[in-house]
Amino acid sequence: MKVAIIGLGSVGRGVAEMIAKKDLGIRVTGLADSKSGCIDPAGIDLFRVLEKKKKSGCCGDKNISALDVIRKAPYDALIDVTPTNAMTGEPGLGYVMQAIKKKKHIVTSNKGPIALAYKELRALAEKNGVALRYEATVGGAIPIFHTLGHGLAGNEILAVFGVLNGTCNYILTRMADEGLTYEQALLEAREMGYAEADPSYDVEGIDAAIKLVILANTIWGNGVKLDDVDRTGINLLTPDAMRLAEEEDCTVRLIAEAIPKKGFLRVAPRIIEKSNPLVVDGTLNAITIETDMAKEITLIGRGAGSIETASAILGDLLFIRDRYVERS
Ligand code: HSE
Repeated sequence: MKVAIIGLGSVGRGVAEMIAKKDLGIRVTGLADSKSGCIDPAGIDLFRVLEKKKKSGCCGDKNISALDVIRKAPYDALIDVTPTNAMTGEPGLGYVMQAIKKKKHIVTSNKGPIALAYKELRALAEKNGVALRYEATVGGAIPIFHTLGHGLAGNEILAVFGVLNGTCNYILTRMADEGLTYEQALLEAREMGYAEADPSYDVEGIDAAIKLVILANTIWGNGVKLDDVDRTGINLLTPDAMRLAEEEDCTVRLIAEAIPKKGFLRVAPRIIEKSNPLVVDGTLNAITIETDMAKEITLIGRGAGSIETASAILGDLLFIRDRYVERS
């Protein structure tokens, strides 16, 4: 299977490293970062490119752009690991649309295009007979969409509740366990590299709301938008509020909830009992799915990180390889 990778930030580098290290029958024939690109139909030497990127900040030739790679490289699937822009979806949205029109399968970790244009992208992918997979957009390494699409196929999904933002969860855990102030805990989270480039996306609940929109549109196809989510962040929480919760053997978590029968789509800090399976620590994510047959299922796992997110991307790629692409 031949793939092109667009984006060589933390997630892109994780994907390239895992493809290089694991014998998965995946050949990377095109690769681009924001400044340069390279195309090699015989397969790019990923270790060499990663080294070059580390030393110079560029992965290839400055005369080759991401669009050149998308248009000219020979590949079966495009891996879009460009950064999220929740307002425009760009540049990922344009790249993904170009590749679909060229009848290429899509695997993306970019939340922007899926949250903003899910319906259009799904329709375009169907028209062109290609797969559109985005496991890495929600819950990091947690295989939530594989679970919903396969393991729980046949169930009616009644509601979804989730801890979907690792940065907020880390901040809340550190405030409760160590008595850190919000500012101290946020600084730590940023230093760990989990926060978005603009951390207000995390702490104001925007990132969790984007993920909730992606979940809701996938499960119910109800075409909801970011503005439909009733959203409160954790940025105004005080150590006193946390202490009060602790006194009741409870704690505070930023919970994303979707209950379509009640027309309910909300992200907000909630006081919940410590025995609730959604009470996970640090940068972990947790998602509880309520269904008619399986009842409640909670998935817990690492919600962010280079290799963890690469795990979700590889799962999607190998699904496409097995379902659509002859091994090459
Ligand atoms: N900033 C996000 C988080 C990264 O903290 O969960 C993963 O989407």
